[in-house]
Amino acid sequence: MSTILITGASRGIGAQMAIQAAARGDDVIATMREPATADLPDRIERHRLDVKSEAGQLQLAMELGNRPIDLLICNAGVFQGRGGIDDSSLDFAAWENTLMTNVAGVFFTIRTFLPNLRAAEAGKIAVISSQMASSQQASGQHYAYRASKAAASNLVFNLAADLKPEGIAIGAWHPGWVQTDMGGASAAVTAQDSAAGLLSEFNALTMARTGCFRTWDGKDLPA
Ligand SMILES: NC(=O)c1ccc[n+]([C@@H]2O[C@H](COP(=O)([O-])OP(=O)(O)OC[C@H]3O[C@@H](n4cnc5c(N)ncnc54)[C@H](OP(=O)(O)O)[C@@H]3O)[C@@H](O)[C@H]2O)c1
Repeated sequence: MSTILITGASRGIGAQMAIQAAARGDDVIATMREPATADLPDRIERHRLDVKSEAGQLQLAMELGNRPIDLLICNAGVFQGRGGIDDSSLDFAAWENTLMTNVAGVFFTIRTFLPNLRAAEAGKIAVISSQMASSQQASGQHYAYRASKAAASNLVFNLAADLKPEGIAIGAWHPGWVQTDMGGASAAVTAQDSAAGLLSEFNALTMARTGCFRTWDGKDLPA
């Protein structure tokens, strides 16, 4: 049995990963902005965490104390401004929210819970990125989201180098185009299938694979 902390577990892929990990017997610390409204069975442990909030990060770190975490899944994310260069919804506030959530939120979550990962026998970290992070698959539009996910993947590549001496493995994953509020109803993959694929990928994450950028169904992606 592992202890798994998941961010953005209120709905979508994060909620599905929490449900499936708990069902297989893992100890799940499901974190979310508003625990009262989360779409999760009551038996799953819930904690409040807005990944953009310094006070929130510190509060949860205090609540967890030195409890070991075997797997930290940085899943919380936003997708704003889905048009091209002229999309006026992609304003300064949207850029700020996107970068703070998808990039700084990932960085601070990892830094905050690193002591808990260090306390585990072989702590590991999974960052939910996107294939839109890939500069080799640059087909235009979605500027803030693409830039934020590229930055999140870049964090993974650099953290892999820094955390290698400590034996903490880290990787970035594309979860597929998934049927969630973000992906929409016509997406190709169910949240259940994506979560199952991702959890099995995280099981296979070892130091041999640290710094990887892969898909939910086991393929390598170009940076
Ligand atoms: N769906 C896709 O096709 C797809 C494709 C590629 C990558 N992804 C990535 O997969 C991850 C999960 O996406 P999803 O499809 O499950 O999206 P979703 O259904 O929109 O869920 C997003 C989750 O992130 C949480 N969140 C947003 N801002 C947060 C913050 N500041 N602090 C804490 N939680 C926050 C949301 O919480 P609230 O309920 O409080 O809003 C929600 O739980 C994201 O990183 C996304 O970028 C998704």
